[in-house]
Amino acid sequence: MATGSLRRRLNKRSSDRRPQAPMASRPNFPSYYRRTSLILFIFLILGVFVLLGISSNMWSTVGYGAISTGIYSIEVVNAFPHDPNAFTQGLLYAGHDTLFESTGLYGRSSVRKVDIQTGKVEVLQEMDSRYFGEGLTLLGGRLFQVTWLTKIGFEYDRNNLSKFEKFTHQMQDGWGLATDGKVLFGSDGTSMLYKIDPQTLKVIDKHVVKYKDHEVHNLNELEFIKGEVWANVYQTDCIARISHYDGRVLGWILLPNLREGLLAAGNHGIDVLNGIAWDSDTNRIFVTGKLWPKLFEIKLHPIKKRFKDGAIEQLCLRKAFFN
Ligand SMILES: *[C@@H]1O[C@H](CO)[C@@H](O)[C@H](O)[C@H]1NC(C)=O
Repeated sequence: MATGSLRRRLNKRSSDRRPQAPMASRPNFPSYYRRTSLILFIFLILGVFVLLGISSNMWSTVGYGAISTGIYSIEVVNAFPHDPNAFTQGLLYAGHDTLFESTGLYGRSSVRKVDIQTGKVEVLQEMDSRYFGEGLTLLGGRLFQVTWLTKIGFEYDRNNLSKFEKFTHQMQDGWGLATDGKVLFGSDGTSMLYKIDPQTLKVIDKHVVKYKDHEVHNLNELEFIKGEVWANVYQTDCIARISHYDGRVLGWILLPNLREGLLAAGNHGIDVLNGIAWDSDTNRIFVTGKLWPKLFEIKLHPIKKRFKDGAIEQLCLRKAFFN
């Protein structure tokens, strides 16, 4: 009986949704309540969106490195001839399809101006056989070059390579050089990335380069590309994309197919990948290696697949060259 009367009352209520005469004193209460809860609901939703926005900003700034380091494969878009006797240690783009290149080995070291399309050496400045040429960069019409196992470097007039002066720097050794147009970036075969004043050649800042918690040893040839410093890691087929603000590795470019392709084509005398050049006018990236008969123009493609734990470390990190 109680259930019957309840059902009847419920039926009555559901059929009496529209306020009738007897309810006239309270008709506005439900709609007022509904409106208030609707407004509260809208504020709640807005609040959730604001919180989500804040936390996603936090992820993208604070948590970026922890979440992912970009991993890139490459596509070869052009291949050009390269002097197979050039033990490439420094490379840069100087406009008008020309490169400046520094080569190593005692008695074979040089600074040269090279035509990209033909690979022809247009100007050659041979170095004293006491020096082993290393990293090279161009700033304000002057080429800066460092040399292996010394703190001695050379500054050349880009229009006349036989005009040069000696300098000394403060890095442990001379491996790589690059510039953002203001300072020089230097590497010395350790995990340290240096900022150097181009006037005084003094170190003004330095950061240990790290991937996750690992130091990235053996930083070699450098290039400054769109705000990042890119570095060949000696004895790997990897290029590290480095933040020069804190030394963090932002990304890895994997290029094993270049060296392997040259070997498969019968070029048995080639040495490691080394040399990155950047044409900022047309966004072209060039890479080559020591004693490679080719210079490659490449494009990057992000790799979506997940790598097994330790796989990148195995490909791109090596024990320290210097102890
Ligand atoms: C280049 O510089 C050298 C050394 O200062 C000088 O002897 C030579 O005449 C210069 N060459 C040209 C083409 O200016």
